[in-house]
Amino acid sequence: MRRSVFTSLLIGSLTLCSLSIAEAQTTKLPASAHTPNGLELSSGTLTIRVDALRPDVLRVRVFPAGHPAEDASWAVLPAARNARVAVTPEVNGFSTPALRVTVSPNLQLKVTDLAGNPLQNDALPVAWSSDGFKVTKAKTDDDHYFGLGDKPGPLDRAGEAFVMWNTDNFGWQESTDPIYKSIPFLIQMRSGRALGVLFDNTFRTFFDFGRERTDRMTFSAPGGPLDYYLLYGPEPKQVLNEYAWLTGPTPLPPLWTLGYQQSRYTYYPQTQVEEIAARLRADKIPADAIYLDIDYQYKNRPFTVDTEAYPDFKGMIRKLTAQHLHTVLITDLHIANLPNQGYAPYDSGSAGNHFVKEKGQNYVGPVWPGPSVFPDFTRQQTRAWWGTLYKEFVQDGVSGFWNDMNEPAVFRYPTKTMPDDVEHRIDEPGFVKRTAMHPEIHNFYGMENSRATWDGLLALKPNERPFVLTRASYAGGQRYAATWTGDNLATWNHLRQTTPQILNLGLSGFAMTGADVGGFGGSPSPDLLTKWIMLAAFQPIDRNHAAKGTRTHEVWVDGPEQEAIRKRYIEERYQLLPYLYTTAEQTSRDGVPIVRPLFVEYPHATSDGHPLDLDADGEFFFGPSILVAASPLPDDVAPYELHLPSGIWYDYWTGAKLDRRGPATARDLEIRDTAPALQPVMLHPGLGDLPVYVRAGAIVPMQPLVQSTDEIPNGPLTLRVFAPAAGESCGGDLYTDDGSSYDFRNGAYLRLHITCSIDASGALTVSIPQREGNFKPWWSTLRIEAVGFVPARSQATVEGRTTALEKTKLGWAATVADTGKAQTVILQ
Ligand code: GLC
Repeated sequence: MRRSVFTSLLIGSLTLCSLSIAEAQTTKLPASAHTPNGLELSSGTLTIRVDALRPDVLRVRVFPAGHPAEDASWAVLPAARNARVAVTPEVNGFSTPALRVTVSPNLQLKVTDLAGNPLQNDALPVAWSSDGFKVTKAKTDDDHYFGLGDKPGPLDRAGEAFVMWNTDNFGWQESTDPIYKSIPFLIQMRSGRALGVLFDNTFRTFFDFGRERTDRMTFSAPGGPLDYYLLYGPEPKQVLNEYAWLTGPTPLPPLWTLGYQQSRYTYYPQTQVEEIAARLRADKIPADAIYLDIDYQYKNRPFTVDTEAYPDFKGMIRKLTAQHLHTVLITDLHIANLPNQGYAPYDSGSAGNHFVKEKGQNYVGPVWPGPSVFPDFTRQQTRAWWGTLYKEFVQDGVSGFWNDMNEPAVFRYPTKTMPDDVEHRIDEPGFVKRTAMHPEIHNFYGMENSRATWDGLLALKPNERPFVLTRASYAGGQRYAATWTGDNLATWNHLRQTTPQILNLGLSGFAMTGADVGGFGGSPSPDLLTKWIMLAAFQPIDRNHAAKGTRTHEVWVDGPEQEAIRKRYIEERYQLLPYLYTTAEQTSRDGVPIVRPLFVEYPHATSDGHPLDLDADGEFFFGPSILVAASPLPDDVAPYELHLPSGIWYDYWTGAKLDRRGPATARDLEIRDTAPALQPVMLHPGLGDLPVYVRAGAIVPMQPLVQSTDEIPNGPLTLRVFAPAAGESCGGDLYTDDGSSYDFRNGAYLRLHITCSIDASGALTVSIPQREGNFKPWWSTLRIEAVGFVPARSQATVEGRTTALEKTKLGWAATVADTGKAQTVILQ
């Protein structure tokens, strides 16, 4: 976008534009500007409308006076978009129970909290022209920005600028932009206060976080509505809750998708698929899924099977199912352009007029199958048709589907996508029926592709949670699909990148995420593959995938020593499944992602409110209690610093206690600005070591090792209690259900919030409440294992009966019957 356009078209008169914000804010708004839920004010050629949807969520729209944009959204749920709360009018704006909003006569917006702390203010009036618009906000040196989906680079986006344009970008690097997704949602952290911004515009939008000017943050678009939402914390978790309210949370995934997944481009032919499955089981590598990439299809044609290479496709799926391996098939959106050749997806799509058009004809572009046509997913009836294409595969027992190349990727250079003059015929409830050109649709085309798949699978099996993996998406796309970070490379730097990328995806609403384990392009060294498998055991989706022509990637490829390390981490993941599933279920209700940056859990860990993560590169939370401290430079053999929030921490592997409380030393103050400041711990892990810590007061549910999520664990459910300091709170959650259906909506689940405390005598009391829900779990006994606790008598008392404590590798344990009733267990 050309910047000169803006400077000549600033809104309002020159006199108004030159008013300082301070002067402007003393100006009284006309009574007519107040609305029951906010305000609406015009100046010159523009109108601003601000609506309070809730006390902590505002919607801001600016439009040419008298011409509001169509009130519709692909991202925001109608119930949230139409929500309103009453506001209190004030002289130059309004307040809600959480926020104060003022607007100057030249329509500059300022938002503070009720104590007057500035959260966001326009540094300039909106610039508007026929070529687009630009919003300019003030930025302070303390502002940090997160989110924006899968964009590479550091966790904090400050100092960078980004463009939203879904792009197939094999081998992207840290500075590559754009890549696959456009998630125009960011979280600003200013002095420990979080503010979310969703810029709901599907065009090629731009964000600048101080790259052009360090004191400005801007967002702009060449077309479409100026429509954005402000989501106030002050805690980051509140912003994440609000974003889930606005666009929908990541739904509860099927349990098997949290298991280990094995993929390759492509396991070919059928005998190779069978060999991989057999080896996984023979080597006792716990696993839940095998993926088939494009070569299972006949000539790369979606919804076909190459029956020469896979002579008994259905039989193969049946056999995999019998081995407790779910099959996931790639089903790309491009349909081979094969009129009159008996290719059913083309024939039925053509009969229903489901393909996008160029100059009145089906647009045809080259992709994997050669010349292809593209479904118009902006049409409800086209999505419904697309969903029917899954019928046979679902009948054959396929469990999940992979929607790739949906940016949409077209082998046409340099744009790598369809031309701008391609037409989409929007036909969607809540939207005006009209023809839209590709630039408006491009960024959410992949999301609507995954939506069509999700809805289609639900229509085919209404009581089964679908699993869809998508590469491209837009804000809100988490409702329909999990995602991965596309075509990464087998390099140490790409391994390092997985952490900020997955964290930012989580902060953008996408909680079910992964990166190709081992790297897609290129061949990982044995150590790199091992380190990657270790880290991925603590990421939401654990899928090993590799490109054609690369060295094989499976767990066993580099000999027994490497295999043993890799296997140990995958086994640990399986033992943590109760904790991971409980976290995923919590995410499906509150929007706090499965893996999350430190600042989400500890927003006040530093005295100046800057995110602790910026000192602790490579660290992240896996669920609410487990902190993974991977090296910020994984191929560097030198020791690195571990930064932990203050408090007591336990080494996850050994149970060793790290007391991070206590006053700062002079040296601490010199090198750190945390309060209380603490010297970092130096870590020097060997090849098989990944430092992982658990915060004191956590209860982590774990299970006996299984080879797949189908297998019923044999033994008790362990509640690993990490002892708190005396007088500090202690607790943890447990959720389970059948792992696959929606019966939980009708009460077939089990939920517990377990609490514990240590009294003055050092006794640890664990209180297990009466179960919520009526699901009968696999266990009948509970093993309560206390870490960081020193028993005086080595005994446990359960409802008056006393048993001996058992010494374990990490602490002391008592095993008790679990009848589902409330009970209290005292370890002393
Ligand atoms: C794309 C995908 C990759 C897949 C390949 C073949 O490059 O990103 O994961 O293996 O296409 O389908």
